[in-house]
Order: sequence, then structure tokens, then C-alpha cells
Amino acid sequence: MKGLVYRGAKKVAVEEVPDAKIEGPLDAVIRLTTTNICGSDLHMYEGRTAVEQGTVLGHENMGVVEEVGPGVTQVKPGDRVSVPFNIACGTCRNCQSGWWSFCTRTNPTEGMDGAAYGYANMGPYAGGQAEYLRVPFADVNLLHLPAGREFENDFTMLSDIFPTGWHGVELSGFQPGDRVAVFGGGPVGLMAAHSALIRGASEVFVVDQVTDRLKLAEKIGATLIDFSAGDPDEQIFERTGGKGCDRGVEAVGFQAHDAGGDEHPELTLDHLVNIVRSTGGIGVVGVYVPEDPGLDRPEKADRVGWQYGTFFSKGQSMGTGQAPVKRYNRQLRDLIIAGKATPSFIVSHEIGLDEAPDAYDKFDKRVDGYTKVLLKPNA
Ligand SMILES: NC(=O)c1ccc[n+]([C@@H]2O[C@H](COP(=O)([O-])OP(=O)(O)OC[C@H]3O[C@@H](n4cnc5c(N)ncnc54)[C@H](O)[C@@H]3O)[C@@H](O)[C@H]2O)c1
Ligand SMILES: [Zn+2]
Ligand SMILES: [Zn+2]
Repeated sequence: MKGLVYRGAKKVAVEEVPDAKIEGPLDAVIRLTTTNICGSDLHMYEGRTAVEQGTVLGHENMGVVEEVGPGVTQVKPGDRVSVPFNIACGTCRNCQSGWWSFCTRTNPTEGMDGAAYGYANMGPYAGGQAEYLRVPFADVNLLHLPAGREFENDFTMLSDIFPTGWHGVELSGFQPGDRVAVFGGGPVGLMAAHSALIRGASEVFVVDQVTDRLKLAEKIGATLIDFSAGDPDEQIFERTGGKGCDRGVEAVGFQAHDAGGDEHPELTLDHLVNIVRSTGGIGVVGVYVPEDPGLDRPEKADRVGWQYGTFFSKGQSMGTGQAPVKRYNRQLRDLIIAGKATPSFIVSHEIGLDEAPDAYDKFDKRVDGYTKVLLKPNA
């Protein structure tokens, strides 16, 4: 079958890769109908993670079940399903308490809990930017979707970024009526803003400098803050009578940069500590890594110097980590079906697998208009 393979910094290629097949009794094989490129793929694409060359990328997957192992009882060939990016066993301590993203069993990497498809440090699982995908523990992991093609571009956000945006808001300790600042107007930040507005935020600020992304934020009712036009904290304080926000969501990660493009991994954390009120909360879903091969000393990535003293003095709280997709995806599916959520508003491109290398290049450069790219490997 064909798959998109990581070949070193800024190199991906569509190649013949080993067929996805049933390897254990609890596996399923999915024929991909839609698989998205994610900002997390860009950290890998840019050579800023430990991902191995030859890995098939792709953790935002949905499709139709092709085949199941003999122990699978809840899904059958022909079922339309969303595949959470987390690979959970369903029975370990973390899975059983709803922390599907920190499964203690599915990731053999030393010191790492939580597994995912085609992802640095998250186990030996091939990704779904390919024609087919092997899904372990299929009964645990797969979410049923209504048959047909309806809501395809909304449902495709259920595998990762819609639950991740929702989780960022949840981690912040959000209550209806709260005012929220979201740093990062990429797909994840826009999903966090969409989530906060659905959940009854009084006001949501989205901070970025990419114009087309800021326009999308405006379309869903958020207030734009362009950090290339001046200090974002000052802009937010000015618009809130000096009060700042109740909650903040970090949706950028360790490659946060200033308006000139220089990276400062502490930048958005410092902004959030500054503009969130005392005893308010911060949800960090932007990714930070323990090691960054893009640095002269890769282990330096693990020591981000941020304003912990002010954070402590303000009595703020913070939640972090990969999102436990299964905690939210069923309810978010039903909000889509009910017409109350439309995460497809961020889709900018729908293309075949062969065009993916070019789309990686343009999405990576944040070329105007490249907000969310959906691949259709079997179209
Ligand atoms: N925790 C999870 O489960 C999870 C899941 C998916 C993605 N992620 C992570 O979330 C982050 C965002 O993902 P995405 O797909 O939206 O990526 P993206 O790269 O498309 O978007 C990031 C945005 O941040 C903006 N940005 C950069 N520096 C900034 C700054 N100083 N202030 C404000 N905005 C700034 C960029 O202009 C860009 O639009 C990534 O780190 C990704 O790895 C985490
Ligand atoms: Zn993703
Ligand atoms: Zn588990």
C-alpha cells in the first residue's frame, strides 16, 4: 500500500510501505477515508523530535473498517469509525480513570506512558497517512459514526484536534461566563476557541499573527489579537479594563516564536501567567518535548525557564499533556450531528495522498490559506 514516510528534516515522501494487517486478535484494519495533517506532524517534519526515519506519519484518522481480528466483537467490516490518536488498552490504571492518553501498556518506550500512530516517542505504530491503518484494541479505541459520507469533514476533527481544543479548555478549569485567552490560532487554538464559545464563555481572545487564521477566529465570534501589531498582553488588558482573563489555553507549544520568527519556548507560558487572573487556570495542549535534536544540546529542550514564581504567587493552576480523546469524542460527535458544533470551519484543503509532500511544505510555512489540510487516500 502507499503511505507518507518521514525521511529527515523537511523531507516526506509517498512510498510503498508494508500493508497494514491484523497482527493480534483484538486488532482491526481501517480503510482511510480522511486523514489530516496536524501541527504536531510539523514538529516531526522540521526534524525537531526523535521520530525515526521511515515512520509512516498520521494520527488524525477516520475511515471504514476493512477487517477485524477474531477477538473483536463491537465493530465489524463496513462500520464507519473515528480513530482517536491515542492508542489505549482500556484496562490499565490510567485508561480506567479516563486518561486514555497515558495508557501504561501500549507504549514500550522507556519512561513514556501513552501511545499514538506515527508519532515521536509514542510507540512503534504506523500512522494513517496511508491507504490502510492497523488499530490495536479496536473495541476500546474505535468510535462509531453514522454510515455514509455526511459530516465527513466535521467528524475528521474528532480523532484529535476538536477533543484536544476542548481538553485545553477543560484543563483550564473553565466555567460558563469565563473570559478566555487562547494563544495560537492554528487548528488546535481555533478548536479551543470554538469549544469555549459552545460552552458559554463570555469572551474569547485568539492570539496569533497569521491573518487568515485570525479571520477564522473572528468568524466564530472570538476577538482577535495580532501579536505582530504589539504586545498581546497590553492589547488584552486594554480590552478588559485591566482585568485580563479567567482562563488561558496554550495551543502553540515549544516552537512559540516572536513576531520576527525567533523561538522562545517560554513565551506563551509567560503571557498566560501574566494575563490570567490570580487563582485562574491555564490549560497547556501545545506540545513541549523532553529532547529536541534541532538544538545544539538536545536535552536543553527539557528546561524551559518560565515565570513559575509569578504563577505560584498568583495561585494559578495548570494542566498539561496529550488529550484523552475518548473522554470527549462521543459527546462532540453528537454536538456535530445536532448542528451545535461545526469544526470543519477550519478546513482549507482536501487533496490526495500524492499531493501531501507539497502540502506539508506549505502548511509548515503557514502559507496564507493553509490552515487545515485533509488527505483523502482512497478517493
Ligand atoms: N496535547 C495534544 O493532545 C495535542 C494534540 C494536537 C496538537 N497538539 C499541539 O498543539 C499545538 C498547535 O497545533 P496546531 O495544529 O494548531 O499547530 P499550528 O502549528 O498550525 O499552529 C500553531 C500556531 O501558533 C502560532 N504562534 C506561534 N508563536 C506564537 C505566539 N508567540 N503567540 C501566539 N501564537 C503563536 C502560529 O502562528 C500558528 O498559527 C502544536 O504544538 C501541536 O503539536 C497537541
Ligand atoms: Zn494532531
Ligand atoms: Zn491502558
